[in-house]
Parts: sequence; structure tokens; C-alpha cells
Amino acid sequence: MALRTTLNAMLGVKHPILLAPMDIVADARLTLAVAEAGGFGFLGGGYGDEAWLRRELTELAGPARERGLPFGAGFITWSLARKPELLDIALDHGAGAIWLSFGDPAIFATRIRAAGAKLICQVQTEAMAKACLDAGADILVAQGAEAGGHGVSRGTLTLVPAVADLCGPRVPVVAAGGIGDGRGLAACLMLGAAGVALGTRFYATVEAAGFQAAKQRIVGAGGDDSMRSVVFDISRRNVWPAPFTGRCLRNAHLERWAGRELDLMRSIDQEGPRYAAARAAGDFEIAAVIAGEAAALIHDIPKAADVVARMIDTASELLRDGADHLG
Ligand SMILES: Cc1cc2nc3c(=O)[nH]c(=O)nc-3n(C[C@H](O)[C@H](O)[C@H](O)COP(=O)(O)O)c2cc1C
Repeated sequence: MALRTTLNAMLGVKHPILLAPMDIVADARLTLAVAEAGGFGFLGGGYGDEAWLRRELTELAGPARERGLPFGAGFITWSLARKPELLDIALDHGAGAIWLSFGDPAIFATRIRAAGAKLICQVQTEAMAKACLDAGADILVAQGAEAGGHGVSRGTLTLVPAVADLCGPRVPVVAAGGIGDGRGLAACLMLGAAGVALGTRFYATVEAAGFQAAKQRIVGAGGDDSMRSVVFDISRRNVWPAPFTGRCLRNAHLERWAGRELDLMRSIDQEGPRYAAARAAGDFEIAAVIAGEAAALIHDIPKAADVVARMIDTASELLRDGADHLG
């Protein structure tokens, strides 16, 4: 079974399913697994740890080249602006697409185009979509507030078609935020997307980096257990500018500090080290598991290839049977 959209040819993939860049979690192993399954993987460059990036790119680039599999790298734009040399490292290792989120991509567009790579921009509002189109984005990822990790407040259901209208036929739109199974994929295609990007669903897979306990928490959580806040950013001393908040699973630490963010800031000399120790130890009653509302749809920890195959099968079936609704 295969689903074909404009994205397949543009990215050279069998399926219009993208692994969203997830800081640390989307490492070489997961990126390669998604590519081998026929999707397109983005290594999670996150906040720009150069040693991590070089190691993972080295691990990824060789096998990808041997097997003729394309791959990309994703960066948090405002963080990349502080270490722009990381972009060259990713391009020099053969990244065929660069995904930029959260900030103005214009300063990097020329370099990315000169390398022959695609510029993928993740946006959370229509205004951001317009700015990224002006910067020459090849693909826009419309990320709704259901998404795990940082984001804003617009829901996927209206953001995707609104961004598709702005893009027109030339620039494909990828939907992200709350997509956990083939129902989401089929629905997003109907909204005007040419494909989907998954974060939370791929986090709970065998190949994802990260603690097994974190993956188990995603499996055990419902959508109501996922909440947007600034608590984990304050706790790890990495406060983002408005309008961005971060979506993670509720735990004892979040329940304790949500609504008391100023108190948390005042207590950061004690809470910061406590939080860092919990992150290192995998204590997820204090450290956050970054995951979105798609947790409601995740009940197992399969291989990434199974996620892709199941989504394609379900979406194909739904799209085929869709005609039954016609009177
Ligand atoms: C664990 C985790 C880490 C993330 N890290 C990043 C990141 O480093 N850069 C980025 O652009 N987006 C990041 N995101 C957001 C994803 O790119 C994507 O928009 C989101 O996961 C899609 O929604 P979903 O989680 O409902 O699939 C992260 C998401 C998760 C779940």
C-alpha cells in the first residue's frame, strides 16, 4: 500500500510521513528507521550540541548514502542563529532538507538553497506562514497546538487549511500536531496537507532515543494528561520568549508549579539542580516527558516501520471508503 502526494516526489520518499525533529529523541537510529520505512526522517538538532550533531550525522550519513535514503536535519532557528556553523556541518554530511522552527529562517535560506537542499519551515500562525513563504520555503509544516514540545495556540484543524490556502499549489503543506494514527493522516490530506509530521508517535517507538520509562509514560497517558506550560523551560533554565509554550505530560513537578511560575523562578537555585538531576536519572515525576495530545492514540511501543505501515494502511482504507459517505 502506498499514498502518493506532491511530497513523495519532492522529498524522494515512498510515503508522505515525516519524522519531526525532536531534540535528542530523533537520533541517527530513529531517523534511519523512518527513512528505511519509506518516510523522511529529520535528525533533531535541537539547541545545537555540536558533539552530538557530529556523532549522529556520522552514524546516519554512511548507511543513508549506501542505501540511497534521503534524510534531513532540524534546528531551532533562534538557537541556530547563535551557532550558524552547525548548518554547514549538517549540509556537508549530506542533509537533503533542513527543517527550521521558531524564528526567522530568511538568514539561512541562501545557504540552504546553495547546497541544493530543501528549506522546510515549521509555522504556528498564518503570519509566520507568510513570512516563511517570503523567505523562500520549499515546504511549510503547519504545527497545531496539540503538538508535543514548543508551539503556540492555533489548532491543527483550522491552521492546516488556512496555511494551505496561503501556500497555493506550489508549496506543499505538512500537518503536525496531534497526529497519532491513520485517521489523522487521512483527515490532514482532506484539510489540504500533502503529508504529516509526527513527533509524539515516533517517540514511543523501539528506535527512539530516550528512557524506556518516558516511552511507557506516553503509552500510559491520555490526551488530557498533556499540558502546555512554561514550567519545564523555567526548571531547566531555558525560558523561551512569548508566544511559545511547551507541551509535556503532567507529573508531580508540573502539578506543583503550574500557575506558580514566579515562585518557581524565585526558587530556581534549589529547583534547577533538582530538575537537572531528575532528567539525568530519568525521574519523570520531576523531569518532563515532552509529548502532545496524540498520547491519547498511542497504546504500544512498536518499531517505527510498523507505525508507518499501520498509518498508511488505515489512511488508504479510510480514503477509499470515504466515497460511502456520498449520498
Ligand atoms: C520530544 C519532542 C521533542 C521536540 N523537539 C523539537 C525540536 O527540537 N525542534 C523542533 O522544531 N520541534 C520539536 N518538537 C516538535 C515537533 O517538531 C513536532 O512539531 C511535534 O512533535 C508534532 O506534534 P506531535 O507531537 O503531536 O506529533 C519536539 C516534539 C517532541 C514530542
